Amino acid sequence: MHAFASSNSVEVDILSSFCKIDGVNYPVVGFGTYPLTGKVCTEAVEQAAKAGYRIIDTATYYENFEGIAEALKGQDRCSFYIISKVWHDRQSPEDLREDLDLTLKQLQTNYLDAYLLHWPNSKTSIKKTLATMEELRKQKKIRHIGLSNVSVNHLRKALKVGVPITWVQVEMHPYFFDSDLLNFCREHSITVQAWRPLDLGRMSEDKMLIDMGIKHGKTACQIALKWIVQHGCIPLPGSKSQTHIRENLDIRDFSLSKEEMQQIDQRAIRGTRFRLGEEQGLGFTDEFDFSYENCWPN
Ligand SMILES: NC(=O)c1ccc[n+]([C@@H]2O[C@H](COP(=O)([O-])OP(=O)(O)OC[C@H]3O[C@@H](n4cnc5c(N)ncnc54)[C@H](OP(=O)(O)O)[C@@H]3O)[C@@H](O)[C@H]2O)c1
Repeated sequence: MHAFASSNSVEVDILSSFCKIDGVNYPVVGFGTYPLTGKVCTEAVEQAAKAGYRIIDTATYYENFEGIAEALKGQDRCSFYIISKVWHDRQSPEDLREDLDLTLKQLQTNYLDAYLLHWPNSKTSIKKTLATMEELRKQKKIRHIGLSNVSVNHLRKALKVGVPITWVQVEMHPYFFDSDLLNFCREHSITVQAWRPLDLGRMSEDKMLIDMGIKHGKTACQIALKWIVQHGCIPLPGSKSQTHIRENLDIRDFSLSKEEMQQIDQRAIRGTRFRLGEEQGLGFTDEFDFSYENCWPN
């Protein structure tokens, strides 16, 4: 096991569960904010900030920027790393600029730490989209660029554009992970953020993880999060429970053995990912086929 998994600007310290982004240390567990909105979101983000979370994940699709801004009022902006994502139908250069401006206004900040394409859209030119992201980065409206819900196939095409990609945010938990994608990201100095790290809380009832947890004096969810971190990735669990918010951050004082990691890997590698097509009304299922050879044709 490497003590550090590092990319050009992100280093995940597996042993201490901190990650260094551009030289600044943040607790490696980030806070996911979907589907929290309004007052519930504000209270959860306030709890998270109080507990010590410094990486916050949101997206235009979540409609919770104002709730987050309210929670972070009076906090030192520089000590937080805020990630947002632009929806698949807002990725033309004009729409992207507009989406970011509205995001910044509603979040009451003048920059995002990371701006990600939420889902790929093959009807929009990835060259133009990434060139616009790079323009926004040079204007210092965003610090880092990322992609979400992509395959190795998508990433190869995106990297050809020549714009620095710092993050990839994908589904990852002990019931599913894409080891090819993880290896590819590692080779290209891209750090992976894991969404749905607790499989919507189902990890808390998993027998294998409960048994491992008993050995370490930890809960099954803490084992799941540590597994993600020991893969050099950044988990983004969401919660509105004060107990869970604290529990999910408390994973620094133990590590999983090589055998335990392999045991979880073996099952996760055989798992199936969440299918967006099953959600109602989003209507872009072709993009969701991860083997889609024609992704980003131009
Ligand atoms: N890029 C994408 O397309 C994408 C897709 C989905 C999600 N995301 C991001 O990833 C974040 C996390 O994903 P998610 O919310 O779907 O899944 P998740 O974090 O795996 O699960 C959240 C659920 O788990 C429960 N939970 C949290 N901690 C727990 C604990 N210690 N023990 C038992 N239950 C616990 C929460 O309930 P309580 O409130 O009761 O704690 C909540 O219902 C989102 O908030 C969002 O920021 C991104």
